[in-house]
Amino acid sequence: MASRSPSEAGTRARPTERRVRLAKVALFAACCVPLALLVAAGLTDELGANPVETITHETGEWALRLLLLTLALTPLRKLTGAATLIRFRRMLGLYAFFYVCLHLLTYVWLDAFFSLAYIWDDIVKRLYITAGFAGFCVMVPLAVTSTNAMIRRLGAKTWQRLHRLAYAAALAGVLHFLWLAKADLREPLIYLSIFAVLMLARLPPISRKLGRRTRPRPAASTS
Ligand code: HEM
Repeated sequence: MASRSPSEAGTRARPTERRVRLAKVALFAACCVPLALLVAAGLTDELGANPVETITHETGEWALRLLLLTLALTPLRKLTGAATLIRFRRMLGLYAFFYVCLHLLTYVWLDAFFSLAYIWDDIVKRLYITAGFAGFCVMVPLAVTSTNAMIRRLGAKTWQRLHRLAYAAALAGVLHFLWLAKADLREPLIYLSIFAVLMLARLPPISRKLGRRTRPRPAASTS
């Protein structure tokens, strides 16, 4: 079989690169939608009887959804063989952090009125706040080290090891939701099940099996 010339390979690669860039723009816009809907509901007075609760719940849920989606990309890549999926991981992770910051800001500003004593009391006395706080603390170094310059500075191995903290952040987020839910545990249990499946998919024998289902393709960048 005749091999492709470098220029042929280049012209084939370009449309793929363009599609990835377009998909990134679409994903960026899609991740803004929950915030846009919240702002629109706020401007039209449609946040319900308790606006602070609505904002806290929406931002918290989107933070958790996006965090779990970020963790789903590696098993999905193995399952489908689509190496480009990994190129959306950083954006999703940073959006998860963005929504968690909005979530925390809502609590600190509209719930605690910037009272450090109130916040500290909550962290110490309410287990679900302790878990949420731990989840947030773990997400900070992940966001700070998400740049290419940081990957180079830390070295790929150390960076990868550090970014395993994303599992701890997701677990803390799920426990936070589970412990704050008083009667209806259905929704947090769905998130817990998704988290459990994503963790199981990372066990070496399962991960190897997922990888074997697809032909190996060239590795993509971490962007
Ligand atoms: C310092 C950190 C955090 C604080 C102070 C905090 C605070 C809160 C509060 C006060 C609520 C509402 C509780 C209620 O309804 O009684 C809440 C709900 C929630 N939070 Fe957080 N949170 C934090 C971090 C996180 C993190 C890291 C995540 C996920 C990654 C998260 C996800 C959620 C979810 C999913 C809900 C429930 C939403 C719903 O009921 O639909 N939170 N949080």
